[in-house]
Amino acid sequence: MKNLLILVFSFAMIGLQAQPVTFATDVAPLVYSNCTPCHRAGEVGPMPFTNYQQVAQFGNMIAYVTQQRSMPPWKPDRNYSHFIGERGLSAADIQKLQDWVAQGKPRGDSTLEPPAPTFPTGSQLGTPNLVLSMSQTYTIQGNNTDEYRNFVIPSGLLQDRQIAAIEFRPGNGKVVHHALIGFDTTGTARRKDQQYAGYGYPGFGFNADVQGEFTGYTPGSQVLRYPSGIAKRLPANADIVVQIHYAPSPVSDTDRSSLNIFFAQGTVTRQAITYAANPYDFPNGANSFVIQPNTMPMFRAIRRVPYDISLMSVYPHAHLLGKSWKTYAVTPRNDTIPLIKIDDWDFNWQGSYTFPKFVKIPALSNIIVEATYDNTTNNPLNPSNPPRLVTWGEGTTDEMFLNYLTYVPYVTGDENRALGSKDVGSNSITLPLKFYPNPVKGRGNIEFYLESSCVVQFQLVDVQGKVVKTFPKEVFSAGIQVKSLDFSGMAQGMYLLNMETAEGKGIQKIYVE
Ligand code: HEC
Repeated sequence: MKNLLILVFSFAMIGLQAQPVTFATDVAPLVYSNCTPCHRAGEVGPMPFTNYQQVAQFGNMIAYVTQQRSMPPWKPDRNYSHFIGERGLSAADIQKLQDWVAQGKPRGDSTLEPPAPTFPTGSQLGTPNLVLSMSQTYTIQGNNTDEYRNFVIPSGLLQDRQIAAIEFRPGNGKVVHHALIGFDTTGTARRKDQQYAGYGYPGFGFNADVQGEFTGYTPGSQVLRYPSGIAKRLPANADIVVQIHYAPSPVSDTDRSSLNIFFAQGTVTRQAITYAANPYDFPNGANSFVIQPNTMPMFRAIRRVPYDISLMSVYPHAHLLGKSWKTYAVTPRNDTIPLIKIDDWDFNWQGSYTFPKFVKIPALSNIIVEATYDNTTNNPLNPSNPPRLVTWGEGTTDEMFLNYLTYVPYVTGDENRALGSKDVGSNSITLPLKFYPNPVKGRGNIEFYLESSCVVQFQLVDVQGKVVKTFPKEVFSAGIQVKSLDFSGMAQGMYLLNMETAEGKGIQKIYVE
């Protein structure tokens, strides 16, 4: 029996060792789709991964950070709930990277290697109705410290507008680490801007200056465009307030970021509502939000849902002592609906998370939001040493407890409606394709949209269902993509152009002349 086990075990070992891993066929598709969106020139990742040499040079470090699961960065627990644009490698992918490094980082057959992906330079959502830029270029000091700066950007809109999305475009992706977006109709932010020297004003002082928020920005993230019929109202003459976190930089650098604004098309039947769960939802009242020095307290907010709602996104927000978050709903029938769990929340990687589909929360459910804080010297981000008593406030050394819940009143069928084109866990979704010119002679263009960066394969199938041409696999980034394909030499007639991606399949009928 023992011998048999050893035999089986050694076969398994041989099986493992016999599996060669190469850059061309295994590592390039993996790195290009999961890492390159941030690790390329002008983006926030500190080193580019756009060819064999660059990836091989950092091979050991890549094997390390992926095994630690610190890269690609993704904070929410993927076993608890799912979101659009979710990042993370499977255990098999992590092992592949380990094996590749252990085998001496072979390149393999470079003719099989996918080209490095190209990224759209403009909007990821399409053509905006309005583009607003920071009115001045802002200079970030090369002093290796984090900087938080608020900029006031007048909308110039003389009427109320229904907004489908505001897309933040970093002017300088190397230094912009995250951004929060809100609007102000009271002039508070404008007055603050005037009180401080230079363009913009410093501080975390965001929440008190704005009366509404839009989806913020983190590197590599994609903003949700509300589905048709849903929008958020931007009041006339509002100022848009953008708080930008500039990452520490050893050299002076500049930034001039901008906003792409998309108005809702067609009739808006439901307003997106954002409610921020906050300390007034604590059973013991808002005054119980007190964080004693050298403690790691947990706070719990409970918010009763008055009518059926369809939740679209969540965005937990604390300051530097924030440690973990868990949010779930408990229905009147005592079912639990998991919403988000983040075990190592990090101020620098905060963001808004959109569910793949609307999440229905029935009337009279309780939404429960729990957060823990670490006010000890073990917390490397603790701004006070020795730790001091911390309460609610806007400053760097104060704290916050907010979970922005964005929802609409529920209508029948919402729970089956996707919020993005990506349906996590299945690729049965049909992706819309556009093809032109059709009929085609020689080269034609296929236009498609991806929720996140992934490998795409095109195949041409004839009327008998036979595959007549397979185009090389290629990695594309998130957003609208156009690919030119060559059909010269093909027999005249009708074909189906099939697109296969991790997000779903697309089919387009084409005519070759
Ligand atoms: C969403 C953007 C983003 C993605 C995606 C991403 N990185 Fe990073 N990476 C960063 C940033 C930013 C840093 C700098 C450290 C930080 O801010 O956490 C970094 C740092 C690193 C480092 C330097 C060591 C360190 O931890 O600082 C390595 C190595 C690395 N990334 C590898 C990868 C690999 C491999 C992938 C894909 C599996 C990946 N990254 C995906 C943004 C990203």
